[in-house]
Amino acid sequence: SAAEKGGYDYFMLKEIAEQPKAVADTLLGRIDASGVLSLDEVRIPPAVLREVDKVVIVACGTAYHAGMIAKYAIEHWTRIPCETELASEFRYRDPILDRRTLVIAISQSGETMDTLMALRHAREQGAKVLAICNTNGSTIPRESDAVLYTHAGPEVAVASTKAFLTQLVACYLVALYVAQVRGTKWGDEIRDVVRELAAIGTQVEQVLRTMEPVRALARSLADKNTVLFLGRHVGYPVALEGALKLKELAYMHAEGFAAGELKHGPIALIEDDLPVVVVVPSPRGRSVLHDKIVSNIQEIRARGARTIVIAEEGDETVVPYADHLVRIPRTPVLLQPLVSTVPLQVFACELATARGNEVDQPRNLAKSVTVE
Ligand code: G6P
Repeated sequence: SAAEKGGYDYFMLKEIAEQPKAVADTLLGRIDASGVLSLDEVRIPPAVLREVDKVVIVACGTAYHAGMIAKYAIEHWTRIPCETELASEFRYRDPILDRRTLVIAISQSGETMDTLMALRHAREQGAKVLAICNTNGSTIPRESDAVLYTHAGPEVAVASTKAFLTQLVACYLVALYVAQVRGTKWGDEIRDVVRELAAIGTQVEQVLRTMEPVRALARSLADKNTVLFLGRHVGYPVALEGALKLKELAYMHAEGFAAGELKHGPIALIEDDLPVVVVVPSPRGRSVLHDKIVSNIQEIRARGARTIVIAEEGDETVVPYADHLVRIPRTPVLLQPLVSTVPLQVFACELATARGNEVDQPRNLAKSVTVE
């Protein structure tokens, strides 16, 4: 009913709008005033966490994209090797797991069969499993050694939005917590990140306030067949997520690529007026990547692409090459997906609406897939 949707036309719009509160709720009580993380609910003893020599993340769909982003954060902050794998592929390749492996299973519903089978396999091999989940008491957390709930509140729309952002927050919390426990790189960088993470809801809110041009752009592209998405580093999984949203909702051919791979194939797809969304990393921090992606934008534009550029405030170098420019607030490099994903959600939702599609219940999809 309209009341359930809180005055919005679709649950998806309501859930997109709820994201500032959702991320704040996921953070609630988990970072104290002095910036120390307290995750007592992660009942894996610090002694065990200190022994972990490999992290493996398993998930499906949108949760898998959160896991891909988490890999960058975990390896950078903890220096523990981390791999992220599609849950449906994981157990069939005879993965190497033992007592020193920490497996993180990410699932909004806690009922996805592929993810459940992957975590069962991991536990049989003696690995410890931590679930990141949004649904209290669901099967995946019940069968795990520990759980970090995301507290996004119920997500009704099939296409995941607020659950994704809170999965990211939970992954960052776990990465920072493990770094804290192990004392790795526990310095100024981590302190700054914790402070900025604690305030991220405000940044998400700022993005939401500036989405009208993105909606207008989406409507103007309603008769296109293909949209491509490019990103690098943590922007690469964001590109994949942007493409997934467009497939799910707009039923369009949408693909995400690592921008560095462009020259190894995908650039052949560029033709006149093809919309290409580019997620630009911060010019601060890993600025080499920034320069490389700016050349990618120039390359595709020279071949006729219509460039839709998502870039940090104050990044002026992209301006001459952007047919459409979407600004996002400055964040630490690794946290950028929390703000850069939001315009892609709005874009897909508006395109679906413009194409007359059912936003909350896309054809052929289920909110939670309980078969393998
Ligand atoms: C289904 C949904 C996706 C979701 C995926 C994983 O395919 O349509 O939106 O990302 O399942 O769901 P989970 O509940 O495990 O996060």
